[in-house]
Amino acid sequence: MKALRHLLSMEDLDRDNIEYLLNLTAGYVEVSQRKIPRIPALRGKTVALAFYEDSTRTRISFATAASRLSADTITFDAKRSSVNKGESLRDTIETISALGVHGIVVRHPDSGASRQVCEWTDVVIINAGDGRNQHPTQALADLYTARAHFGALDNKRVAIIGDIKNSRVARSNAIGFTKMGAEVIFVAPKTLLPPNLNGWPVAHTHDINEVLDNIDICYLLRMQLERSAAAAIPTLREFHHEYGLTSARANRLKNDALIMHPGPINRDVEISGEVAERPNSVIGEQVANGVPARMAVLFALIGSRLDLVDSESAVA
Ligand code: CP
Repeated sequence: MKALRHLLSMEDLDRDNIEYLLNLTAGYVEVSQRKIPRIPALRGKTVALAFYEDSTRTRISFATAASRLSADTITFDAKRSSVNKGESLRDTIETISALGVHGIVVRHPDSGASRQVCEWTDVVIINAGDGRNQHPTQALADLYTARAHFGALDNKRVAIIGDIKNSRVARSNAIGFTKMGAEVIFVAPKTLLPPNLNGWPVAHTHDINEVLDNIDICYLLRMQLERSAAAAIPTLREFHHEYGLTSARANRLKNDALIMHPGPINRDVEISGEVAERPNSVIGEQVANGVPARMAVLFALIGSRLDLVDSESAVA
């Protein structure tokens, strides 16, 4: 297992790291179900949440995860900060670090921002989404959710469908599912795929109808309108017609296939509102598992060395 100081990308994790974090997540699912879902694992530690881009799920679940581990949190909202007076990312990170925090969770619109931040501080950095690049804690929550249903992910077939070009979730999940032994296929029009897929551990197709009958996970992506995705398609209505998970398409999935989406959903764009509510849609579980998955990451990086901790002491 690799020793880790930060969590910046799913590329940084080997299969043992991922399995370790998923097993730790299972322990934190149990903690989260207790009458008082709080343990002292990170008592005395402080985690800063530095969000330069909007977020509901990731920000709230990191705050909840830190609280359940008894860590203190500092929330930095770029829109209500001295960033508006021109303060740079570097000066902001150095300022937060000077407060004596033990970890900084960073969301930023620029790809590579979290890795850059590591050069300016000795504090543990956790990437909560950087531009189109990576969203590793989303991938860990998703891998946990899928593994909880299937037991193991080896040889499972995962279709990741939609706005792949703009999606950090697609990149992190393609790496994560592949490392866990699954096969990943990207499904998108040419205009919503990265220009070059060389080196990607994935197959791809432009036809959603080719994959529906024989996949175990149908993973829809949000159309990222804030990153100009609409310019890559004729209309949202036509995209739904060609690539959306409509009721008719969802009926073709295997009975035990999971429907996944990282949220927030554009209903009736990438997925029909009716399909999002079906029993095999695990979108709500992905959100719920975001808390224990982030507890696992916080504990592993801030509470202990990832290569030394034993999982029983992590949940006591
Ligand atoms: N899935 C996800 O990252 O959602 P938020 O943008 O709401 O955090």
